Amino acid sequence: MRKIVIAVDGPAGAGKSTVAKIIANKLGINYIDTGAMYRAITYKALEKGIDINDNDRLINLCKSTEIDFQDENIYLDGKIVNEEIRQLQVSSNVSRVAQIKEVREIMVYLQRKMADRYSVIMDGRDIGSYVFPNADYKFFLTASVQERANRRYMELKNKGYDVTIEDIIKDIETRDKIDSEREFAPLVKAKDAIEVNTSNKSIDEVVHEILNCIKMG
Ligand code: C5P
Repeated sequence: MRKIVIAVDGPAGAGKSTVAKIIANKLGINYIDTGAMYRAITYKALEKGIDINDNDRLINLCKSTEIDFQDENIYLDGKIVNEEIRQLQVSSNVSRVAQIKEVREIMVYLQRKMADRYSVIMDGRDIGSYVFPNADYKFFLTASVQERANRRYMELKNKGYDVTIEDIIKDIETRDKIDSEREFAPLVKAKDAIEVNTSNKSIDEVVHEILNCIKMG
């Protein structure tokens, strides 16, 4: 089987990770959650008490940090941090960290290295537009803010987090704004990406729609 790259981009809570994980399993390729990488470095900075506006310290922190994926787990310096990086405090600071060009360059280097080794479906904000402009397939998932917030709310509630829908709406709107307006590799639909509006669609329907576009071989 030839090596392929599938890019799945879109704003916060559009269903990218749920859908990408299922597709990865169905196609037998690796799923990489690039948002988790930016979350992991943000989590580490918060844990260390680093000022989230101190670019130099954040860049140095990034240079001395190991981020890796194995069996759907994200490892930060060798420790699994799947749950820790989902906290609202990480969510509300991650877009600020992800604005820093040098931090992005380190993450993009790692992402490209992964795709050199194996077939990937990668979700994020800039995968089709910047990280892999020549990806085999590019999808851009959208949904209304209300729908995206409802999904995130259910997901976090089910995991036992104490959140309100208002907090989530605010988080999503703020992150979308920062992510779309940043100077370097902003959130944008690549010209050749297929747009999939996931509002009022089941996960199965979205998976189906995407798989219909993909030819392996
Ligand atoms: O995908 P998720 O919502 O977990 O991403 C968290 C944050 O990481 C985004 O709001 C964005 O600031 C940043 N991010 C990014 N580029 C990516 C993936 C995520 O800037 N490729």
